[in-house]
Amino acid sequence: MNAARVAAVVPAAGRGERFGGNGPKALVALRGRPLVEYALAALGAASSVGAIVVAAPADALDRVEQAARRAAGAKITAVVPGGSDRQASVARGLAALPPAYDIVLVHDGARPLTPVPLIDAVAAAAAAYGAATAAVAVDETVKRGADGWVRSTVDRDGLYRIQTPQGFQRTVLDAAHREAERTGFRGTDDAALVERLGRPVRLVPGSPLNLKVTVPDDLQLAEALLRGEEPGPAGAPRVGLGFDAHRLVSGRPLILGGVAVPYSRGLDGHSDADVVAHAVMDALLGAAGCGDIGRLFPPDDPAYRGADSMRLLGRVRALLAEHGWRAAHVDVVVMAESPRLAPYTDAMRAAIAEALGLDRARINIKATTLEGMGALGRQEGIAAQAVATLEPAAGRPSERR
Ligand code: CTP
Ligand code: MG
Repeated sequence: MNAARVAAVVPAAGRGERFGGNGPKALVALRGRPLVEYALAALGAASSVGAIVVAAPADALDRVEQAARRAAGAKITAVVPGGSDRQASVARGLAALPPAYDIVLVHDGARPLTPVPLIDAVAAAAAAYGAATAAVAVDETVKRGADGWVRSTVDRDGLYRIQTPQGFQRTVLDAAHREAERTGFRGTDDAALVERLGRPVRLVPGSPLNLKVTVPDDLQLAEALLRGEEPGPAGAPRVGLGFDAHRLVSGRPLILGGVAVPYSRGLDGHSDADVVAHAVMDALLGAAGCGDIGRLFPPDDPAYRGADSMRLLGRVRALLAEHGWRAAHVDVVVMAESPRLAPYTDAMRAAIAEALGLDRARINIKATTLEGMGALGRQEGIAAQAVATLEPAAGRPSERR
């Protein structure tokens, strides 16, 4: 499928009543990240999807927008306030879709483990048949019950549990929502609205992994499944180490961790000589098995003269993403006899977190003096050492089938 045709609407405005939390379910933490980031990262990684509109709780628009941009970057074209039920939220998302797209996917923000190929498969089926939904055949016995008692056994033959994504020709979904609005019909999914137009809906094999986080146990299940996705034997972490040192000279600004630190001298080097950023980049590249910054940004390449290391850090982030990784945590020690760096470490954390698209709680920076020992102790230069760990990026193709 062609990303120029397919846009996604992500309803994520629910209050999570059954989850029982006190904030929006979209922002519930799953392995340290807001739940909604996972579904959006999968859509972000799906090559069939060109644009994404998110419907968010009106009181959490900013926080959902931040999470959305972290997860899917420029594919996010709008974050709009949702409505009073799922159907209303989808309708608002539809109204905000950019015009060019003629296929629409609707995908719950509460499904953190959707395999990326399932998204592409539903998009292709929507283009071929006009309407399609991910579905899993019911494999357990189904009974009807009430008040704690079995009433009857339902024949499970031909029954499906319906998931999202669901995909539609845009004209079909628009017409279905208009008709539902006109007749006052409320459905729990979008296919139900299309069925009422008498249009066929294609079943696309979904996955039991594609669970919806509805009650707290679902979150535990998602956590366990994500843990199982960690790389290496028994989820062994990927760790990288980075080190850099530059000489202090007069007539240069002192840039450390993306922050201009007021000082009489600065670090000498081809780029901005930000030893903190360089140590962090080498730690990340090392953990991902992607070499080092010397190889990525050759010092004799004029393109990197005076280069802003925060921008280079952004490039490293993109390279990690291409390899299916994102930074999980970074710890840095800066070795500087002077100036005193403690007043600037928070700003450095913020700058590095921003460049890596992470919460700043995942970045730690501390400074130490050398007690006058050696070249660093004589204030001839400043050095930094960093350790970084990685986690699989959501939607990592090799890990998510
Ligand atoms: N949804 C929405 N707007 C609503 C209600 C639901 O955008 N007014 C979204 C949810 O955020 C979720 C998806 O629709 O991503 C599926 O809904 P569900 O799992 O039922 O989430 P909640 O409605 O939040 O949960 P509950 O029904 O337990 O309150
Ligand atoms: Mg609901």
